[in-house]
Formats: sequence, C-alpha cells, structure tokens
Amino acid sequence: MKNKVTKAIFPVAGLGTRFLPATKSVPKEIMTLVDRPLIQYAIDEARAAGIEEFIFVTSRGKSALEDYFDHSAVLEAELAAKGKDDLLEVLQSTYMDSGQIAYIRQHKALGLGHAVWCARRLLRADEPFAVILPDDVIAAEKPCLQQMVEAFEENPACMVAAMEVPADKAKSYGILDVKEDMGSVVTVKGMVEKPKPGTAPSNLAVIGRYVLTPHVMENLHHMKEGAGGEIQLTDAIADEITAGRPVHGFRFNGQRFDCGSKAGFLQATVSFGLARDDLRDELMGYLQDVVQHPQAAQ
Ligand code: UTP
Repeated sequence: MKNKVTKAIFPVAGLGTRFLPATKSVPKEIMTLVDRPLIQYAIDEARAAGIEEFIFVTSRGKSALEDYFDHSAVLEAELAAKGKDDLLEVLQSTYMDSGQIAYIRQHKALGLGHAVWCARRLLRADEPFAVILPDDVIAAEKPCLQQMVEAFEENPACMVAAMEVPADKAKSYGILDVKEDMGSVVTVKGMVEKPKPGTAPSNLAVIGRYVLTPHVMENLHHMKEGAGGEIQLTDAIADEITAGRPVHGFRFNGQRFDCGSKAGFLQATVSFGLARDDLRDELMGYLQDVVQHPQAAQ
C-alpha cells in the first residue's frame, strides 16, 4: 500500500432533515458560515492536507453544490470590469482544475458506509484515502486532516478523528473502545455506533475525518445494515480490528462544531464571526447587548 494520501471522499448525499425546510432546496453543505459554504471549509482543509483529487458522493437535489466549483464567466467579467480584484481573488479559492473533482451518485441514502462504497471505482486497490464530512467543521491552527495525514504517513493504519464527549451525548456518535492510550493517538479494540445509553465503552467519539486503508473499501463490499438500518462506515472500520489490523483514534488539536445540528451551526456562526477582523467588534457589541438586555435585542 502507498503511504501518501492524495484522494478524499466527501459524502454529501444525506437528506439533511435536521435543517428542513431549508434543505428542501438548498444542500446542507452550501449553507454558509459567515460568507463561505460549509463545503469550502472542507475543501480548504483537504487541500492543506495535500489532497489532489476530490470525490463527491452526491444525490438528487445537490446541483447547487456541483455548480459551486464551476467558473462563472459572467460574474468574473462583471467583477473585472468594476475593478473588484479582491472579490476575484475570493472566487479563485472556489475553482478546481479540470478533472480534479468527481461526482458519484448515491442512488438511495443507505448510510455513510454505503456512500463511501459508491466511490470505490475511483480508488486504486493500493491507495489509502481520506473521508471528510463537511458538516463537522473544525477550527484549528494546523487543519485537522493535515494533522491526521502526517500521523498516518508515519504510521500507516486506519485512523479516525476522535474527541471526548459528555456521557449523555455518546448515543449520537460512534464510540471507541480503547486498547491503549498514547496521548494524541489511541489504539482501538472495538467501535460501537450509537451505543444505547449507559453502554458506551468510553467517552471518545468518532468525528467526521478519517484516513482509511483500501481494506476498509473491501470490507464495505459485504457490509450489512447496522445501527439505524444504515450501512455504517464505523462497522467496516471495526472489521479491520477483527481481521487483526490496527485502528487508531486521533485526538486532534482544534475546536469542532457540529454544523449538522442547528445549535452547532449557530455556535460556529458566532465563533467564525468573532474570528473575523471585519466583523468582530460589531458582533461582540451585539452579543454583549443580548446578554445584558435580552429583550432589547429581540
Ligand atoms: P448525517 O447522519 O448527518 O445525516 O450524515 P444527514 O442526512 O446529512 O442529516 P440529517 O441527520 O437528516 O439532518 C452524516 C454524513 O454522511 C452523509 C451526509 O451527507 C453527511 O455528510 N451521508 C449520510 C451520505 O452521504 N449518505 C447517506 O446515506 C447518509
């Protein structure tokens, strides 16, 4: 197997029901944190990690997502005519070279594991690959996937991003059963997707960043439905442990926002707004007002 990770899969075929009615016509990944869609944060993170090929697993109703990466000749001409070079530069970050991006369709939302499996023909049998869930947004000095790819290249085994969660939240995550805790890396002896309350083997939860070996794709060939009637990626990774191959959890440095949930999305909006020089003072003033005089802010 090669050690270098150059391909990333972005599974974006979910229904996004927690954001209905917005997601009736707007893909969740196009929803904006300040002025950039969620997908842009994910792409920037992948690029920083050295990813060269971007594979999107999409579904019906996601055409806005596909259009997002196209050049917009009309818009560019208009901005150039008006001398808006700063905005032209902003657009640059949204472009992809020809052939760098591929779209595969998941015909039915059968689960995250199934979505990843849909990309199998775009990967060689000897290459590892990354998986990024764009609704997990991670603010970090060194982007999370870059941290993981560096760790993987040193020690090439399946790696999942991991984060401590409160015991009452474990039921919403894949949870690691830890064999050995070495600090930023833990070795894993089992993984449970969405454990029933009180049964979680630890409080270390899997977050939406993965660096996986080709074996996981093979495991997905014969996966059956798991928790929630879906084909789970966690189960295909757990099969690696059964096969005697190592699986690592990686405690990343950074702050993760669950932008697949309304509360997480609002928190990310505030946090990313406060991180912006052009917005900080006004937003901070407003937040202080809201805290002191909640009625006046309504
Ligand atoms: P979620 O569990 O957040 O589901 O999927 P969802 O459909 O996006 O959102 P809700 O829960 O209905 O609000 C986690 C990730 O897996 C992808 C989603 O697009 C998201 O990036 N996914 C999930 C697929 O691509 N296909 C699936 O069948 C399921």
